[in-house]
Amino acid sequence: MSFSPHFTKSSGGSSPSPFDRDLATLANYTEVVTRNIKIDWEVDWDQKILSGNVELGLEAKKDGVDQVILDSSYLDLKSVQVEAQDVEYSLGDRIDVMGQALKIKLPKSMSKGENVTIKITYSTTTSCTALGWLEPSQTKSGKHPYLYSQAQAIHARSMLPCQDTPAVKATYQAKVRSGRGLEVLLSGQRKGVNDLGDGKREFVYEQPVGIPSYLIAIAAGELNHKSFDNLEGRNWSTGCWTEPLLMDKAYKEFREDTANFVKTAEDLTSSYKFGTYDILFLPESFPYGGMENSCLTFATPTIIAGDKSQVDVVAHEISHSWFGNGIGCASWCHFWLNEGWTTYLERLIMRETHGELDRQLSYTVGRRGLVGDLERLNPRFQKLVIEYKEHEDPDEGYSQVPYEKGANFLLHLERTLGGLDNFIPYMKDYVRTFEGTSITTDQWREHLFHYFKQHKDGEELTRRLGKVDWDEWLHGTGPDLCVDIQYDDTLSKACYELAARWDKARDGDVSGFKEADVKDFSSTQTVVFLDKLETYDTLPAKVVASLDKLYGFGFTGNAEIGLRFYEVALKSGPEYAKSAAAWVINKGRMKFCRPIFRLLNEQTPELAKKTFLEHANFFHPIARKMIAKDLGVKVDA
Ligand code: BES
Ligand code: ZN
Repeated sequence: MSFSPHFTKSSGGSSPSPFDRDLATLANYTEVVTRNIKIDWEVDWDQKILSGNVELGLEAKKDGVDQVILDSSYLDLKSVQVEAQDVEYSLGDRIDVMGQALKIKLPKSMSKGENVTIKITYSTTTSCTALGWLEPSQTKSGKHPYLYSQAQAIHARSMLPCQDTPAVKATYQAKVRSGRGLEVLLSGQRKGVNDLGDGKREFVYEQPVGIPSYLIAIAAGELNHKSFDNLEGRNWSTGCWTEPLLMDKAYKEFREDTANFVKTAEDLTSSYKFGTYDILFLPESFPYGGMENSCLTFATPTIIAGDKSQVDVVAHEISHSWFGNGIGCASWCHFWLNEGWTTYLERLIMRETHGELDRQLSYTVGRRGLVGDLERLNPRFQKLVIEYKEHEDPDEGYSQVPYEKGANFLLHLERTLGGLDNFIPYMKDYVRTFEGTSITTDQWREHLFHYFKQHKDGEELTRRLGKVDWDEWLHGTGPDLCVDIQYDDTLSKACYELAARWDKARDGDVSGFKEADVKDFSSTQTVVFLDKLETYDTLPAKVVASLDKLYGFGFTGNAEIGLRFYEVALKSGPEYAKSAAAWVINKGRMKFCRPIFRLLNEQTPELAKKTFLEHANFFHPIARKMIAKDLGVKVDA
């Protein structure tokens, strides 16, 4: 079906909302857009900075453009050239989180469609919020330093001056040099490595697919690569990068599933466009479970659980290749188009491997996470489409809402529109229509209506679409979903029953329980059991101790289980504060460390603050800032 992305505006269907413009960028991206970026960096391990230059190729979107305004944050600028001529530039006052507008006056004004090249020579500084510089002691071997970036949502501007908005997509080429014999990886395809002598090498990369700035990523350190089991006849391949000591474990865990997941996602959407799909397993301080950097997913090592119980994180990051990296959101208000759709596809991929019941169980776990977040969130951030204020930090609105409300909304539409037989072809058409562009929620909805109107059962399906409570789903607040969506409970029933038995045993008689109670549970079922337990009144500390003794949760190597156990334990009193503090000091993933520090702070505020301050340097700058905020302490950037 042909469908122009401009359909929305020309059809008169809906007028552009003020939230269509990204309010988290200072760039004048509606006047001029970046088409290509050339990066030339040197990794300076001594000073902990990247230094070099970037060359932006820009195109005017209208007549009379006489300046280019870029985002920048904590950059040390040396010079700016337009078409190889030095020009004057100015840096605006720093606006908290947004950084400083870099204003570049053009020697002559541009007309629509005209191109210009701007070269900026600069270096990052030690205040950079995107880069984590690790000491050798923070790596597996303890021998070499390590560097990695995390640019989403708006930290790319602290690595390079750019139009730091998901509305703009550019291709890039990079040349990055590093000494000390250390490897450099970027979020593109490796084109070559030049030996410069003395342990110094230059790594040449290219990203031929247009990507938003937040997908620009770098990692460097002692790293090895291994290809996974790949499939015949595909024009892409998968593999992993890890520190040498982690390779065997990581390889074993993901060698079979990764290429199959990409293939399954292709069957459900469209062909994989990025050529390479590698996973880089980072040190423990990485603040997310995974980050979908193009060609090179970054992942926390905690997903290497040994029993493949957390491969869904990889299915999730793979899914971003279509939702987020393929179809992008036009501003962070529409972030749910990235994460909701990705979560929806992630669960369809898992369904192929583990079946529909497993998919239903993932929705059950997700729902609990959503309700937990909705309980503590400001109503503004309970909405699926978040109305960010000008210059507001999108990291503030980060929660399970875009993920779970989003995925549940799509599940609701799937069920409303006749199930997967109808919804998968629709999803393919959605991808075909918008791949490579950045869109708003209105554009998504217009296409949905347009698609189903032309369906063979169009009349009936359009009628059903008309009955969906659009306003509640997209803009509603409240403690739960606006429709009480039910999931098949075949796999959760036993977990709920066991939790109910423990709830009843709160008077102290635990003689009816045995180690074998959870023996046949998958780790997701154990999570469901602990999640359910958490919904009851606080358990007495004695009962928690019995639970721990019997099932050994305090020693689990599975961080998803550890998180739930310490949540239950910390709510019951200070007894588990010390072991929770010991557990949290190497959990860089914010999903794990933030709730545990928050609860620890409620139980034993002194221990919480002391533990954090002693280990603050372990955490990535983004996590460090968020935990400091949660605990109400100050910490150096
Ligand atoms: N893109 C996100 C991570 C992210 C979001 C970083 C917003 C910065 C700002 C990534 O794809 C993600 O969702 N990670 C999840 C994985 C999980 C849902 C399987 C995570 O880290 O928990
Ligand atoms: Zn995601």
